[in-house]
Amino acid sequence: MAILITGGAGFIGFHLAERLLEAEKKIVIFDLNIDKIKEEAEGLILEQGDVSNIKSLEEVFEKYDFTDVFHLAAILPPLTEEDPYKAFKINVEGTMNVLKTACKFGIKTMIYPSSATVFGPDRKPPFTEADLHDPWTVYSSFKICTEIIGSIYAKNFDINFRAVRFPIVIGPGRKSFLGITPYPTQMVEESVKGKPYTAEIPPDTKLPIIYVDDAVQILINLWRSKDINFEIINVDGLWVTAKEIADGIKKIIPSAEITFKPVKNVYVQQILSGVKKQKEEAKYGLKGKRLLDEILQEYISRSSDEK
Ligand SMILES: NC(=O)c1ccc[n+]([C@@H]2O[C@H](COP(=O)([O-])OP(=O)(O)OC[C@H]3O[C@@H](n4cnc5c(N)ncnc54)[C@H](O)[C@@H]3O)[C@@H](O)[C@H]2O)c1
Repeated sequence: MAILITGGAGFIGFHLAERLLEAEKKIVIFDLNIDKIKEEAEGLILEQGDVSNIKSLEEVFEKYDFTDVFHLAAILPPLTEEDPYKAFKINVEGTMNVLKTACKFGIKTMIYPSSATVFGPDRKPPFTEADLHDPWTVYSSFKICTEIIGSIYAKNFDINFRAVRFPIVIGPGRKSFLGITPYPTQMVEESVKGKPYTAEIPPDTKLPIIYVDDAVQILINLWRSKDINFEIINVDGLWVTAKEIADGIKKIIPSAEITFKPVKNVYVQQILSGVKKQKEEAKYGLKGKRLLDEILQEYISRSSDEK
């Protein structure tokens, strides 16, 4: 028996794969680009393939006896905004292909990371799952679209589709140019390299973050929950200002040089402006447990080891 992780060579997917090695099943990573993890993928099975090509998915499903699927293959902003057609092919059609193939092969559970960015910048927090979406990016509109497609598959086929809307996930291995905003990652990584960093945002910019190990734990908790069929759940982030992150880094790396030079009133100040704590939180553990100091301590020490 085996577990499939599409996009398993990526930032969250690879952390997830390493954790799932404890699960006593084969862990198969299906990713467009497996070369980047070849050296460090001990114990993992690597399959190169493209989710937008249903044939390549079917071949992998034929080859292994999958019981569960974590579908993380996607492209993120700014790539989605630069090429919405490509993003549609991978993020929407790719998700439909994974759902269709999973159903064809009798998979019972599919776990999917959606995004807190399904809520737009113009509304005031807190939000609940019952609130209407108002996406402001191609990326978030495709997240909504795939949530809905997942819900339709859950209703019409025998598959538990469980999606979580993550805030900004940070930690070692994140590509610093990807995502709604790169500054939390860049602040840490440049400081670890001993380089000065200028954040092009006001210091009071406040966004919700979650550490990658907590995000992975949430995916695993959701996968292990026996009593959930279809569900889309908001995940609450730790709300921190850019200055709080910079101060936290300086506590660990006193020589870190982080300055603020806002060049524009970036929309990150407004976006992701709230995801309400959920009543299900205690039940599924849908909140990161790490606080800022702990996140930075782990992030910096692991990034320093990898340097
Ligand atoms: N990083 C975050 O802050 C965040 C927040 C919310 C949701 N998410 C979601 O989590 C998932 C993983 O994000 P990540 O941060 O690990 O991104 P990532 O870019 O590090 O990983 C994505 C992986 O998907 C692979 N991929 C891309 N196109 C593919 C294709 N056509 N076929 C097969 N594989 C393909 C890439 O090679 C990459 O390894 C995505 O669905 C993303 O939208 C991420």
